[in-house]
Amino acid sequence: MWEYTDKVRDHFFNPHNVGEIENPDGVGEVGSLACGDALRLTFKLDKDGKIKDAKFKTFGCASAIATSSVLTELIKGKTLDEAAKVTNKDIADYLGGLPEQKMHCSVMGREALEAAIENYQGGGKKKHELEGNVVCTCFGVTDKEIERVIRENDLTTVEDVTNYCKAGGGCGGCRGEIEKIIDTIQGDKAKEMPVTAPRRASGLTNIQKIQLIQQTINEQIRPALRAHGGNIELIDVEGNKVIVAFRGMCAQCKLAEFTMKDVVEAKLREFVTKELFVEEDKESALQPHNHLE
Ligand code: FES
Repeated sequence: MWEYTDKVRDHFFNPHNVGEIENPDGVGEVGSLACGDALRLTFKLDKDGKIKDAKFKTFGCASAIATSSVLTELIKGKTLDEAAKVTNKDIADYLGGLPEQKMHCSVMGREALEAAIENYQGGGKKKHELEGNVVCTCFGVTDKEIERVIRENDLTTVEDVTNYCKAGGGCGGCRGEIEKIIDTIQGDKAKEMPVTAPRRASGLTNIQKIQLIQQTINEQIRPALRAHGGNIELIDVEGNKVIVAFRGMCAQCKLAEFTMKDVVEAKLREFVTKELFVEEDKESALQPHNHLE
């Protein structure tokens, strides 16, 4: 269970401005259902060009709901220039802080706002486009977005970047590229990422192999899934077949079989042995939960 402030709890249990504005002046849509978080923001301006009303619809965890709710409150009454200055830090600060692993929800709010303003400025036709080159293909995050979260939040590790924009939280294939971006921006400030040294399974007994699989799930896989409102459980290991069950958002996700399974398999192959393959145990997957996660 995450440690949430009273304000986060309040905005989660009693979210403000849920829904969609009819004939909005601006619409911003970011995130993706397949990745566990998505947000649609709509706003309407008054005759003086100030945001008269703002509403949101979101799919995600408690933090996604709370940050979206606060975002709509923060921008009401502001001109678009003033609203454009709202940062992800403003959203998190208003809530009295968020768990580090949930900071990406505040970034998603800021992105949705920018997308909605762009949409308005493009006469209601413009859709949000990714700027820069995609570095993290698992979550569709570009170098520009990574650079921005590093600069705005003074991030110095790959783990920080994952917490703020999800990049690096899947297969891990982009982590080297993220480190290079951190080094370029932060120079000496960049700290070494404390990564558990990969130990290969060759020469291990079956028990040791299972322990290494469990350790990899605990340290390398579960934190990323939990950040997206999901979880994973190791059910059994039969030879090189690793049977797992997904919980929460991961079990609910229609694409889970293709995305989560592949991500888990890639991690286990990287940290344990290349021969492993993953099978999902759907029987034991629980129904998605709706508590604070
Ligand atoms: S490419 Fe970034 S985590 Fe897979």
